[in-house]
Amino acid sequence: MVVLPPKHITELSSLSLDTASGIKALEADLLGKWTGLDIIIHSRLHHQLVQRKLTPNLSLVIPALESEVAASLDTCFPQSYEWTSFKPYYTLLEVSARVSSRILVGYPIRQNPEWIDISKNFTENSYLLPSVWRTKGYIKKAQQLLGPAFAKRLSDLDSGTYEPSSGEYDGFTWLAELAEGADRDPTRLAHYEILLALASIHTTLLREVNVLYDIMAEPQYFDRLRAEINEEVARGWQKSSYQNLNKLDSVLQESQRMSPPQSIGLRRIMQKDYTLADGTLLPKGSYVCVASYAIENDPSRIRNPEEFDGLRNYKKREARPGTNRHLFTIAEPSVLGFGNGKTACPGRFFASLALKAVFAKMLSEYEFAYKDGKTEKPKNLFVHEFVFPNRSNEILVRKRRECNSPF
Ligand code: HEM
Repeated sequence: MVVLPPKHITELSSLSLDTASGIKALEADLLGKWTGLDIIIHSRLHHQLVQRKLTPNLSLVIPALESEVAASLDTCFPQSYEWTSFKPYYTLLEVSARVSSRILVGYPIRQNPEWIDISKNFTENSYLLPSVWRTKGYIKKAQQLLGPAFAKRLSDLDSGTYEPSSGEYDGFTWLAELAEGADRDPTRLAHYEILLALASIHTTLLREVNVLYDIMAEPQYFDRLRAEINEEVARGWQKSSYQNLNKLDSVLQESQRMSPPQSIGLRRIMQKDYTLADGTLLPKGSYVCVASYAIENDPSRIRNPEEFDGLRNYKKREARPGTNRHLFTIAEPSVLGFGNGKTACPGRFFASLALKAVFAKMLSEYEFAYKDGKTEKPKNLFVHEFVFPNRSNEILVRKRRECNSPF
């Protein structure tokens, strides 16, 4: 593996797919040949769905998103006004899977427990040998579950008998609309749903758990974030309220800097020999990346990197009104959590919206505390390049008696 210094980030990000392929690197990381995830090399339908359908239509999915966040928290969180112990990782995994499923699948699955189970476990298994062998089983189950509905939708679309019902903005509908050629196949479409679950559930889950742990260790953020949410509720909560949650946005980004999903980024497999501007040769077949965690936490680039300053980016934005920089969704050479350049994560705008919806509701309606008077965030676990929050940790939660719910 070649870990390039930061000065090459812009050049590496600008290389075309046939020179340096991020897709081939992802496929290799996911052991595509064995897990069935090599489909990403042959078609980019999951990517098109996010870029061409989901992101431009984000405001249309907000009602379904809010209704799912509300229902999931009611169902998955303890509903007591007394402090109750729970494991945030597993509870938020369920919430994240339900929320993703409502938007990225939608009709006809809604909250089918079998699908929620597949979508949660597929990712957990695709990273852990030997359970990697089970991933093909999950793909098959997904195809059995979703295949017949996709077959019907494709046939209705072909015969012109498909009547869209109002409010049907979901991954199922968009995949069937976008599919062409070999992709107009029910089993392939079900396979893409698995890819979307893989891309979205654990990534948003990791942010949810980390942000919760981060602000529990610095409880003054509860008041600050609740005040910001309350301000929007007092003005009348609406779709545009999400753009005004600037402190929450800043906390999300600070948390991602200190606890990213992985310590490396911009992974590429060289498709041909390429010589960088400074003369360094990247031979064909080499696996190239940058040390994104080290770059984002480098004391020569960022003041007090070891300090969780939730308002770090908020303050930068306040100092430069009108700037688009320092937002959670930013992808640039010094902020690599979502990649950089043309291949940057297409789902980051939905991720930001979904995370804000979850936190707006969760912080308004619940209080959290560490058990046994502890005040420190449980340490992250670094395994190879992966960064895991403590999964089995239990914390305390209780419902707030007086709260202004945003939705
Ligand atoms: C906080 C949450 C998330 C993080 C940190 C994240 C991060 C990333 C990163 C680092 C990449 C690779 C970029 C590159 O190659 O330079 C990526 C790709 C991608 N992400 Fe995200 N992501 C998140 C949420 C989501 C969500 C919610 C979706 C779906 C709605 C999504 C869909 C995708 C897709 C489709 C790709 C491209 C995969 C491919 O090339 O086949 N992501 N993401």
